[in-house]
Amino acid sequence: MTVHLIAGGAGFIGVNLAAALLDRGDEVLVLDDLSRGSIANMAALRGRNGFGFIEADCSDPDTLDVALGVNRFDQVWHMAANSDIPAGVADYRVDLRQTFMTTVALLDVMKRRGRTRIHFASSSAIYGDHGERLIHEDIGPLQPISNYGAMKLASEAQLRAAKEAWLEEVSVFRFPNVIGVPATHGVILDFIRKLVATPDRLDVLGNGTQQKAYLHVSDLVAGMLHIADRREPYAVYNIGPTDDGVTVRFIAETVRDQFRPAAAIQFGEGNRGWVGDVPKFAYSVERLLATGWQPRLGSREAVLKAVAEIIAQETR
Ligand SMILES: NC(=O)c1ccc[n+]([C@@H]2O[C@H](COP(=O)([O-])OP(=O)(O)OC[C@H]3O[C@@H](n4cnc5c(N)ncnc54)[C@H](O)[C@@H]3O)[C@@H](O)[C@H]2O)c1
Repeated sequence: MTVHLIAGGAGFIGVNLAAALLDRGDEVLVLDDLSRGSIANMAALRGRNGFGFIEADCSDPDTLDVALGVNRFDQVWHMAANSDIPAGVADYRVDLRQTFMTTVALLDVMKRRGRTRIHFASSSAIYGDHGERLIHEDIGPLQPISNYGAMKLASEAQLRAAKEAWLEEVSVFRFPNVIGVPATHGVILDFIRKLVATPDRLDVLGNGTQQKAYLHVSDLVAGMLHIADRREPYAVYNIGPTDDGVTVRFIAETVRDQFRPAAAIQFGEGNRGWVGDVPKFAYSVERLLATGWQPRLGSREAVLKAVAEIIAQETR
């Protein structure tokens, strides 16, 4: 039976991926330092056959090797990273350690243990701001505008070099905003928490015209498994919806309407919410569509579904 090591598996995407792999009858070993993920996120996984968890920091190879001990694994899903982009802009060490050194350390331990198959959660942040140009996998130059994006790009470079030397299979998933539960961060969760704190008013960063593609986590997991199953030696795919996305205004109004219909929305100025925020981009998923994959939900449906899910999470 295949054993999947999921680094960062106690986080939002990791627990959804773990559930899908267990559904297939495989075994899952989650490795997470619980800096952002939690035991509560894994509640539905813990009683399941084939599930294991190790609490460990995976940014240092020796610590990681000791923490893994005699546990066996066949392939690695690298989901561990800093997911607070502004925190990484304020202090470069956050992304250096959590987003880049996790990649280096995982590769080091894989090499020591003769494991040659890795799947990596990269990001649309590696591309930077290309204005209205369609972002496909071969666009350039790659000019990330946050330390997070820079360290994801550096991780991809490290994987590419290791592929040349000893890795046998690498999948690189580049995706934009993913939404759903258990939500650990992101615009929908921020808005809901703001409305819990001040029920009559929602302050929005930027003027609300920022437009982005949103992918529901169920579609992301299906896309990642679809790519991994193809077993290409070096696969690089954008994963996203097929539409141009929705605006922050649409998200704010959806949250307000579903959660606090009487609240007033106050927009800020400018079309960037924070440093590292790309105001608008057109994202191509043609390469992935050509392999026969289709997302079930568009950005609009994904937002409507995730808002309901995250309200339920926050009001339980
Ligand atoms: N959610 C998105 O919209 C999105 C978009 C693009 C890429 N990604 C990438 O997908 C992956 C999963 O994202 P997510 O949304 O589930 O984020 P998340 O923060 O919920 O999960 C990341 C997990 O990594 C763990 N982690 C961080 N540093 C670690 C370390 N040094 N050792 C061990 N564990 C560590 C955290 O505790 C957390 O559980 C990340 O690599 C992220 O960069 C996410």
